[in-house]
Amino acid sequence: MSCSCLELVDPKEVKLDAVLSAYQGKKGVLVPVLQEAQEIYGYLSQEVMEKISRTLRILPAEVYGVATFYSQFRLKPMGKHIIQICLGTACHVRGGAKVLEAIEEKLRIKDGETTSDGRFSLEIVACIGACGLAPVVSIDGDVHGRLIPERVGQILENYV
Ligand code: FES
Repeated sequence: MSCSCLELVDPKEVKLDAVLSAYQGKKGVLVPVLQEAQEIYGYLSQEVMEKISRTLRILPAEVYGVATFYSQFRLKPMGKHIIQICLGTACHVRGGAKVLEAIEEKLRIKDGETTSDGRFSLEIVACIGACGLAPVVSIDGDVHGRLIPERVGQILENYV
């Protein structure tokens, strides 16, 4: 005899189901639903978009179209560590672009990409509020300031 209590429940799926039932039957909900789904999963997989489409009765092409139109949505999983390099005015003036080049060369990824081993994702951002420390890179929320390209490799080694 099988016991349903042993079935594994995916807590993320439970959360998504709750979001979908809260929005079901309402109009103009696609963007907030996609935002909440991304918050739950970290990105919007094909499977999640299909479920949203089915449940809310929105054409798959429309769901995919909105998810790809807005830059806030990610269609691939993020890496274990998120590198945010600031190219706001202060950081740009103080050599942020050179630091970015050093990161891109070291990790062989560009803005919005993730390394093939899933260790790092790279994002260019505008001002993170630490202009006095420009140029600045934030990794998983740790701010590294007054960076020079030569220090990039050593800093990244601390994130395994
Ligand atoms: S411009 Fe880079 S932290 Fe403000």
